[in-house]
Amino acid sequence: MDKNAVWSELVLEISSCRKCRLAENRTRAVPGEGSLDTKIMFIGEAPGRSEDEAGRPFVGAAGKLLSELLQSINLRRENVFITNVVKCRPPENRDPLEDEIRSCSYFTNSIIQLIQPSLIVTLGNHAGRYVIEVLGGIRWYGVSRMRGNVYEVTLFGRKTLVIPTYHPAAALYNPAPKKALEEDFKLIATRYKELTENEVKAKERRKTLLDFMR
Ligand code: URA
Repeated sequence: MDKNAVWSELVLEISSCRKCRLAENRTRAVPGEGSLDTKIMFIGEAPGRSEDEAGRPFVGAAGKLLSELLQSINLRRENVFITNVVKCRPPENRDPLEDEIRSCSYFTNSIIQLIQPSLIVTLGNHAGRYVIEVLGGIRWYGVSRMRGNVYEVTLFGRKTLVIPTYHPAAALYNPAPKKALEEDFKLIATRYKELTENEVKAKERRKTLLDFMR
């Protein structure tokens, strides 16, 4: 099955999922969106009201800031993949609970395995803890201590870089996390550029080898 077909199956499964209590009040599930062939994936926390209505991630105020941050490093939403650790809106926008993140982990893990990103950016504490500690096995000490660094973890047998940063919602009315987010996005840009340059070099090496063997 090709990637698009697997993704369509996953979207159907997520949209009809009733594994946890969040299914009871959702308008629409929010599986995620973006390029299935990207090297970089962003994982947030949970859909809010706007996302629940639209069925799309990060379309509200925090999403506007995320789009601006992406633009500041010459990335567009269509060139990355964006999802959340839970795919349905928690009531009153409360934090997602541990068991809800666990119930949704089959989908989160399937999406990571489908996209096979080389770099994952986690937004906020919940996504950071899930990817770095639960999947990556590195102790999570909270976003303010862990952010701004690059962690190398093995996810589903693949070496993956993870950069945790603040959730954009934390920066909406607060200058300190906004400044930290802007700094972290510069780090993201540098590491992403390295990854794409290395990929071009590897392709050139493969081509030279093939030419040599002809
Ligand atoms: N906050 C999130 O964590 N995810 C969204 O999709 C929207 C807001």
